[in-house]
Amino acid sequence: MLYQREYSPFKGEIERGMGMLKGRLLVGTIAMVETNSLQLDRIVFIGRTYFEYLRMFDLNESDLKLGRVLDGAAGPSSFTAEATAKGFDATACDMLYCHPVETLADKGRMDIEHTFRKVDDVPHLYVWKYYKDRQEIIGLRHKALGAFARDYEEEIREGRHIKAELPRLPFPDRTFTLVLSSHFLFLYGDRLSLDFHVESLMEMMRVCSGEVRVYPLQGLDAKPYPHMEELLLRLRSEGLQGELVPTSFEFQRGANTMLTLKR
Ligand SMILES: C[S@@+](CC[C@H](N)C(=O)[O-])C[C@H]1O[C@@H](n2cnc3c(N)ncnc32)[C@H](O)[C@@H]1O
Repeated sequence: MLYQREYSPFKGEIERGMGMLKGRLLVGTIAMVETNSLQLDRIVFIGRTYFEYLRMFDLNESDLKLGRVLDGAAGPSSFTAEATAKGFDATACDMLYCHPVETLADKGRMDIEHTFRKVDDVPHLYVWKYYKDRQEIIGLRHKALGAFARDYEEEIREGRHIKAELPRLPFPDRTFTLVLSSHFLFLYGDRLSLDFHVESLMEMMRVCSGEVRVYPLQGLDAKPYPHMEELLLRLRSEGLQGELVPTSFEFQRGANTMLTLKR
């Protein structure tokens, strides 16, 4: 409807071009040409909650009882804080876990704001099945950030939040039973190379005795990772079996599959 109001069939190409400058007012074909990807200028420090992790990775609590769990590139997710509070053995690692909690909390708040401003430019890339509306999801991101920050500050001596920069992890071989990684690999495939993906996944498998799970498998443009076939072949040549497994979760349109890796 908005498209028709802005662009009657009688308007010419110059007016169309000017209309595009109005940006977010426009919907339909022209707005999609203007931006068809979530335009994040950085790998953002925003995090999901424990229950979102269970849904994304199709996990139930009996899976978490099997041994130690690592959340790789965990950012301000509250998965580790909440899992620990429930009595599971969880560890989080991220390249930014060397900064004071106030710095991380400030960055987290800024990145939530940046991300959802950009999400508003590309509403067609998302489906509202799991989340009711924008406010609910922003609330969950702040809830995760708050729980992460409290845990990060309190548990320094127990070492549940470890600084680690992929493609290297500072853990001995087979330390964990399950390694999870969400919203890092594949999502930022426009700026992280295929070699980086292969090396990071091999490293996650090195520190894991069981299974690695990664979600989502789509880029910021909601398109499937373009090098998946080659990636799986390269991992297979290293003795690792990758499988694309459906999950019951979807927010980014079409992102309802995770990668599982085993030996
Ligand atoms: C969008 S957050 C994902 C947070 C969490 N996994 C979740 O889904 O809720 C991406 C995270 O990747 C981290 N990161 C970026 N490059 C990294 C690297 N080379 N090694 C480890 N972490 C990295 C960032 O610091 C950021 O916290």
